[in-house]
Amino acid sequence: MKILGIDTSCDDTCVALLEIRNSKLKILSNIISSQVKLHAKYGGVYPSLAKREHIKNLPLVFRRATKRIKLSEIDLVSVTNGPGLEPCLWQGVNFANELAKNLKVSLIPVNHIEAHILVNSPKIFPAVCLVVSGGHTTLFLMKGIRKYMLIGETRDDAAGECFDKVARILGLGYPGGPIVAEMATKIKNKKLKIKNIKLPRPMMYQKNYDFSFSGLKTAVLYDYRSRPSKIRKSKQYIREMCREVQQAIIDVLIHKTIKAAKDFRVKSIILGGGVVANEELRKQFQEKIRKEIPNTEYLIPDTKYCTDNAAMVAVTAYFHKKETTKNWQKIEVNANLKI
Ligand code: KG4
Ligand code: ZN
Repeated sequence: MKILGIDTSCDDTCVALLEIRNSKLKILSNIISSQVKLHAKYGGVYPSLAKREHIKNLPLVFRRATKRIKLSEIDLVSVTNGPGLEPCLWQGVNFANELAKNLKVSLIPVNHIEAHILVNSPKIFPAVCLVVSGGHTTLFLMKGIRKYMLIGETRDDAAGECFDKVARILGLGYPGGPIVAEMATKIKNKKLKIKNIKLPRPMMYQKNYDFSFSGLKTAVLYDYRSRPSKIRKSKQYIREMCREVQQAIIDVLIHKTIKAAKDFRVKSIILGGGVVANEELRKQFQEKIRKEIPNTEYLIPDTKYCTDNAAMVAVTAYFHKKETTKNWQKIEVNANLKI
């Protein structure tokens, strides 16, 4: 069986092909056309520009993803129908509708957030899932496929958004996460020289599972403004600030997730979303789980399946393959889709 996946929820045009043989999943192709360079000058995603790029890129990305097969080999088409940027989502959905109709195969709409979770192919429940991306910072208690309970989310900015905004304050470019992470690793012999770089860990010790990251960004801004121009423009300041903001985000994410895992006595912890590509976060999570709840399974996607991709959409469709629809035109976009 072969499932085609499509995702155009934000600024990447993604098409992937998944093959299932004897219940084993194999990703045959995973093509991503990134618009990063285009949006970099705006310091964020510009929806109407992203939409135009999707229209242009989709046929090309589709052709590359399917170049080794005959189109008649595709058994199912799946597409992200939310959450995301509405004009962008429609491009993927319209393309998928048309394709499924032409190939006379069924179509499965996929929730982008669920895809960030199911790309891990989880099997052991209950689980706590943390989805951290540019648009979301959410904790779910998962009792099985399709059985999610929202237990916490950000009250303002998402963690990825905080990385992006801090990078902008420090003049580092977009997207911020990978640049901040790279700067943080550049501190030689771990010696800190700039005085008093200490950021808050927002909501860390509150008794709920919610997050808040907008204050963290503001704290960076105030610190930046308070420094003499010679200091704040220095490599050392930028690197140390990047390390501190990365650590503040990691501390809060790990603390709340482990607390939820203990409180709900789960058997696994599942991570997903762009921020999970962060090496330091992956490492520190693993160390903490090993130390505090060693019998808990720890699932994280390969880094290329953390940031947006369509392989995760096809994998999610596999889990929902019984919920197909042949009513191609009926797939609606919902920019605020919940799982
Ligand atoms: O999941 P994703 O690709 O798109 C959304 O659904 O939002 O996540 C993108 C976010 C961006 O905010 C980006 O800065 C962040 O993930 N990100 C990272 C890293 N790579 C991407 N954040 C921290 N460290 C990284 N290595
Ligand atoms: Zn995403």
